[in-house]
Amino acid sequence: QGTLRDLAEARGVEIGAALGADHLSGDPEFARLAGAEFNAATAENAMKWDALQPSRGQFNWGNADSFMASARADGQAVRGHTLVWHSQLPSWVSDGGFSPDQLRTVMGEHIGTVAGRYAGQVAYWDVANEIFLEDGSWRGSVFYDTLGEGFVADALRMADQADPNAKLYLNDYNIEGINPKSDAYYDLARSLLEQGVPLDGIGMQTHLINGQVPHDMRQNMQRFADLGLDVAVTELDVRIQMPADQGELQQQGQDYRAVMENCLAVDRCVGVTVWGIVDQYSWVPDVFPGYGAPLPFNEQYRPKPAYYGLQQAL
Ligand code: XIL
Repeated sequence: QGTLRDLAEARGVEIGAALGADHLSGDPEFARLAGAEFNAATAENAMKWDALQPSRGQFNWGNADSFMASARADGQAVRGHTLVWHSQLPSWVSDGGFSPDQLRTVMGEHIGTVAGRYAGQVAYWDVANEIFLEDGSWRGSVFYDTLGEGFVADALRMADQADPNAKLYLNDYNIEGINPKSDAYYDLARSLLEQGVPLDGIGMQTHLINGQVPHDMRQNMQRFADLGLDVAVTELDVRIQMPADQGELQQQGQDYRAVMENCLAVDRCVGVTVWGIVDQYSWVPDVFPGYGAPLPFNEQYRPKPAYYGLQQAL
């Protein structure tokens, strides 16, 4: 059996990982696994608004540039994450009291500067992240509250202008199956395409609970593909109530396998990205108390059943 990236390349899909800047620079075993096993990469935090532009007009490129250099050295396709998001957004934007025209300018400066800097080096941009709530209504944010739903079309057009070659995505969680939230994306995507707005794909974050891969995930991906869009699994992890026993780890392996199989079954699914590599650095325990062990490698950097599930699917 080859590495995941060898197998994925043979199948014509991407297998990506989210990479934390600290781990990439400070943990050689992590950095080695990143390059050996993955042919695509997402910066876990380094390309978010608060990291790049903490105050107006002040851009910090250090971590993002190092991430890009590492991805280039490892021959990885880059998913830029993320241009417009209500979270990890500095208060100078969220509490800035901007008028609609001013906020559109602020958004344009951010998107133009960031997507412009990396133009030609980013394969995909998550242009807008998490714009809908679970019931399919719009999530309140400074962008929606000030600009209305048109901020999404504006952001897509701005990103397209800054980097005409990047594939432009909307990205969210709990849109893997067919439900009110994924229906909202379906309707929005159809309407954006009708208006000629540059939208290329839908990213399904896929932060799952063990044993709960939606039964209609493949069908859901296919309906977006049928609109003429690409789809991608952008942030896969499968969280287990701790402590995780052998049976649960085996179940997790089946879930990873099922997600990859769903992607492989849909022609326009470009690949699967896992949200981290090794369990000890995952965001899961911080945000979902009592849960953990969500990733393909354990704390000893050894492959888990989740890894073999991906390998078997590929
Ligand atoms: C998470 C990171 O993994 C954490 O390090 C950070 O503290 C918070 O954000 N959806 C997303 C990602 O789109 O950007 C989030 O990443 C996880 C949920």
